[in-house]
Amino acid sequence: STTPFLKGLNVLVTAGPTQEPLDPVRYLTNHSTGKMGYALAEAARDLGATVTLVSGPVSLPEPEGVNIVHVTTARDMFAAVSDNFKHADITVMAAAVGDFRAETASPQKIKKHGHTTLTLELVANPDILAWAGEHKRTDGSQTLCGFAMETEHLVENAARKLAEKHCDMLVANNLRDPGAGFATDTNVVTILTPADDTDDPADESHNIADIERIGQMPKTDLAKLI
Ligand code: C5P
Repeated sequence: STTPFLKGLNVLVTAGPTQEPLDPVRYLTNHSTGKMGYALAEAARDLGATVTLVSGPVSLPEPEGVNIVHVTTARDMFAAVSDNFKHADITVMAAAVGDFRAETASPQKIKKHGHTTLTLELVANPDILAWAGEHKRTDGSQTLCGFAMETEHLVENAARKLAEKHCDMLVANNLRDPGAGFATDTNVVTILTPADDTDDPADESHNIADIERIGQMPKTDLAKLI
């Protein structure tokens, strides 16, 4: 049995992909299965937290003892997160949110007849993690953890996200690493936290993150570690 050291705390987790409709039969999405986010929600529950899991469409069973909010689009996910964020002591955003959507989904099925090309015009979705970073309480009583999946320049991109999105922790994984990525049961991550010596005005390393490389491990174990 585990010490319930998150007892009395509210933990908010996002998981899974989003689906952005193009027309009544098609959508834009990605390969996220929700495994990492669901493992995080279950780990927090096992540590005694009150957990809200905002989940995009996945085929995983609903975890017991967790408040689950099902969403489809990035904007749905944004609405669910903004409803719950104020009361969250710890927020972990593991969802693979679609960066773009069709501004207006076609009300009828898009037909191929007579077309050899099709141009989709996309508009940016809200960045939920960035919003949370901007809206967290200034007294340090809310902890915000983001994820980053990259295919190159892992640490540089992750360090920039950590700073720009005002995260307290960023979990970075490289899609190209064996044992990392979407449908696997394991992950290989690098955990970045802000360097904690930023109070010293003579210290010019304020953009430097502390970096911890974690070897391949099951997502369930990694969830507990995070
Ligand atoms: O910038 P990027 O999308 O790679 O950042 C990844 C992190 O930001 C993840 O934690 C993801 O859940 C979060 N995110 C978000 N809303 C978006 C895009 C990403 O919360 N629209």
